[in-house]
Amino acid sequence: MSQAEFEPIVYLSVSAQEELVPLSEARVPVLDRGFIFGDGVYEVVPVYAHDGAHVPFRIEQHLDRLARSLKKIGIDDPHDAAGWRALIERVVAANAEGLADGNALVYLQVTRGVAKRGHAFPANAVPTVFAMTTPLRLPSEAERAKGVRCVTAEDRRWLHCDIKSISLLGNVLMAQHAAERDAFETIQLRDDNVTEGSSSNVWIVKNGELFAPPRSNKILEGIRYALVEQLAEECGIRFVAREISEVELRTADEIMLTSATKEILPVTSLDDLPVQGGKPGPVFAALYDAYQRAKAREFEQFDLTRRK
Ligand code: PDD
Repeated sequence: MSQAEFEPIVYLSVSAQEELVPLSEARVPVLDRGFIFGDGVYEVVPVYAHDGAHVPFRIEQHLDRLARSLKKIGIDDPHDAAGWRALIERVVAANAEGLADGNALVYLQVTRGVAKRGHAFPANAVPTVFAMTTPLRLPSEAERAKGVRCVTAEDRRWLHCDIKSISLLGNVLMAQHAAERDAFETIQLRDDNVTEGSSSNVWIVKNGELFAPPRSNKILEGIRYALVEQLAEECGIRFVAREISEVELRTADEIMLTSATKEILPVTSLDDLPVQGGKPGPVFAALYDAYQRAKAREFEQFDLTRRK
């Protein structure tokens, strides 16, 4: 089956009624608070093809973040970590044929559920749960070798960017801002400081040191944030979490983006000016290799538990 023909089988639970159905048949009532208010949270987990199996990467951290997001908006978590893991396995297994031996991502979404329209939390709403897996096309080697073009814009989003909320209009507008300029991503600035991309975290390098905006309510702490911190240490690269000014961004030796679907990507052009030589730099190269080694370690771990 070609990927173009692949219609995922998705999991949907509305008012505690569960089903596994083809994507085109999945239906959510219009009074779901996700539809009416954007009242929900989500996760995107990369699931790598490895030796005939599919291995979710950094699953524990993704599920911890999902639990934190739910807690922050007062939705009872419909599953514990084991329940979420089982659900992911179930959805991936239901799509085994379509995914074949390719990488995938799993999208999880929880909304507050279906209720009569009214802004405050309804009593007794049952969270709606949606889980979908689709093929994941990672940036190709050629794309990584070239790096991507980014543009900048003012960050006009709300001040709970730490919640992985499905209310993504601010992020959607930033992604569109990039698309209209034929750029890959918009790097946002708030009060003269870098925050993040529309769907990625931003890193800069100056004189061999790596910097990222600190964890705060102004950015989503990507699962790759702690990972890159760890990889930098492994590579002997000093990392400092601190505010990055617009001038520092524009004079950086290297700029990078990270996300579940991009892994680590070098930015080689910013607002139509080359980032240093317009080529990916050595810190990117070291971190990218370290990222692949981190994947290999998780695969080894997976093989060990599979053999037991
Ligand atoms: N987005 N910041 C924002 C606003 C994001 O939406 C994302 C990820 C990140 C990086 O987080 P992580 O490393 O956990 O992927 C940072 C996902 C991929 C998405 O919305 O599709």
